[in-house]
Amino acid sequence: MDTNLLQEAKDFIISCYQELNKTQNEIDKRIEEITKQINSTGSYEHTLFEIDHGAKMAWRNSNRCIGRLFWDQMHTIDMRHLKTEEEIYQAILKHMEYATNGGRIRPAITVFEPQTDHKHIRIWNHQLIRYAGYQLENGILGDPASVEFTKKCIELGWEPKYGKFDVLPIVIQINDNPPKLYELPEDAPLEVDIRHPEYEWFEDLQLKWHGVPFISDMSLEIGGIRYTAAPFNGWYMGTEIGARNLADEDRYNMLPQIASLMELDTKSSISLWKDKALVELNIAVLHSFREDGVSIVDHHTAAQQFNKFEEKETENGRPVTGNWAWLIPPMSPATTHIFHKPYKNDIVKPNYFYQPRPY
Ligand code: ARG
Repeated sequence: MDTNLLQEAKDFIISCYQELNKTQNEIDKRIEEITKQINSTGSYEHTLFEIDHGAKMAWRNSNRCIGRLFWDQMHTIDMRHLKTEEEIYQAILKHMEYATNGGRIRPAITVFEPQTDHKHIRIWNHQLIRYAGYQLENGILGDPASVEFTKKCIELGWEPKYGKFDVLPIVIQINDNPPKLYELPEDAPLEVDIRHPEYEWFEDLQLKWHGVPFISDMSLEIGGIRYTAAPFNGWYMGTEIGARNLADEDRYNMLPQIASLMELDTKSSISLWKDKALVELNIAVLHSFREDGVSIVDHHTAAQQFNKFEEKETENGRPVTGNWAWLIPPMSPATTHIFHKPYKNDIVKPNYFYQPRPY
């Protein structure tokens, strides 16, 4: 008898059912049922509303996320019954279509069968949509963050395209079977070409980014059950793209080029050329998404929304947990209230967790 699993299940059922205003009788009955199931099978199955609310609680408990005001508005897609890689891939496509919604992005999670002694599903991709990175003799082409995964895809038979923004295939593995690769249809990833509202030369940089971040390598843990394949999405905060993905020196490293096109003095850091280039890049990202009708939030609005989340949680008697180093936006952090107060980085479950890389 797995007493740890039972304890985790009890803790979850009690808090979940209380939040949903269920009766003590319902709680007792459910715990009795789960106890029996664990005794006879070694595990137990969640009901639909349990995974739905559990996934939402997991988002609410995600200490690194500034976007948690909307935790209650995530759509759960229950795909626990799917058996084959092909079926899982088709469900992933459905999720992408639902979430992308022509640009009016809808937060969603697709939950596949959880891990047991004889079942383990993994999506190898860090995100469902990410750009390839190729280690060439004279440097890296594409996204340096994807170099290792891209190598793996090529080993598994993927045809490299050697572009700067090549969408990687979906890689799905069930148990110890060889992983299966699926090339996404060209129209599945919504992408935004980045241009600047004033600098016409900006589009010559030919930068773009995908519209929706779909995290696909984390495990969702609810009541002691681990959903190792449970891709989820929200929408972007502009700085994720403009101050990190396209700006970090070990990512697309675009600041030197942008600064030189702005004719700034890049020889001396006291010209603040990096800061000036960073602001214009971030203006371009927000402007392009907005003009294309693709949901995005700027970091000032996101911080205000997070403030509201903190207020609501306090009202509901739940302590707010957070990871300060992740919550502060990567540009102008001190202009947001988050910078000026401490957060307790306590881990509360349900939650989303990193898991070992399968490759
Ligand atoms: N920071 C990651 C990226 O730039 C995405 C993480 C999730 N972000 C989100 N807005 N839900 O791709």
